[in-house]
Amino acid sequence: MTQKSKIALITGGSRGLGKDMAINLAKNEIDVIITYNTKKEEAIAVVDEVKKFGRKATALQLDASDIGSFPHFINEVKNALKETFEVEAFDFLINNAGIGIHAPFAETTEAQFDALMNIHFKGVFFITQKALPLLSDGGRIINISTGLARFSNPGYSAYASMKGAVEVLTRYMAKELGARKITVNTVAPGAIETDFSGGVVRDNEQLNKYIAGVTALGRVGVPEDIGAVVAFLCSEGGRWINGQRIEVSGGMNL
Ligand SMILES: NC(=O)c1ccc[n+]([C@@H]2O[C@H](COP(=O)([O-])OP(=O)(O)OC[C@H]3O[C@@H](n4cnc5c(N)ncnc54)[C@H](OP(=O)(O)O)[C@@H]3O)[C@@H](O)[C@H]2O)c1
Repeated sequence: MTQKSKIALITGGSRGLGKDMAINLAKNEIDVIITYNTKKEEAIAVVDEVKKFGRKATALQLDASDIGSFPHFINEVKNALKETFEVEAFDFLINNAGIGIHAPFAETTEAQFDALMNIHFKGVFFITQKALPLLSDGGRIINISTGLARFSNPGYSAYASMKGAVEVLTRYMAKELGARKITVNTVAPGAIETDFSGGVVRDNEQLNKYIAGVTALGRVGVPEDIGAVVAFLCSEGGRWINGQRIEVSGGMNL
């Protein structure tokens, strides 16, 4: 009897790290549902790339900061599982969608704080909660944090605090979902060259050099440094890693 393919749901899969996760999961013979917020065409291009690996894939719209829209989104996931994948549940949830707002602590506005809280913490909390009925027993959840939750760079107090909250939430989820044999881990990338925060890590030469200088391996990260780690956590070999924070930064600020 042929085994059913596993399916991953990746939030924010249209670009950057989420895109690389989708490709690496596909290389590991995992089907994917990615979400996009505004960039539908990019998301469709990722779906097409995933299909080149012989996997099934689809893209759904999601604003991860709009908590009220989650029941509708979960219904869309349910329909996609039935129509595209001919199953009723998926196996891996990767909470990756995110934005960066750079603002000194003294100048951070309530609106900036709320935007970061909704997408990076409240959104992760409730999207995961609402997805639980569709997540297979024995499944895996990976929450994407940041190196900035361990070390402190000026301008990221609100952003990093939300990620810190997600790291605590990861341990609580792991504790409570263990009864269903679901593992929950945090992957915390260092600074990576993507569009994130206006593409500053990639495009600001001075910052890029500074980060390379405080990284043991002597360069800034690229999306291809991250996706394979997420794919490993979703592989059989990752089954006993649970409730952990895995930093993937080339040794930043050691
Ligand atoms: N890049 C870094 O240096 C770095 C370092 C550590 C951690 N991280 C974390 O890694 C994750 C991915 O970042 P990235 O570098 O890949 O960023 P990115 O290249 O800017 O991509 C962001 C992704 O998130 C989606 N997104 C943005 N706002 C959204 C919203 N309100 N609702 C749903 N989706 C939304 C985007 O969708 P659209 O394309 O449709 O807009 C896109 O797919 C984030 O959680 C970030 O905090 C990044």
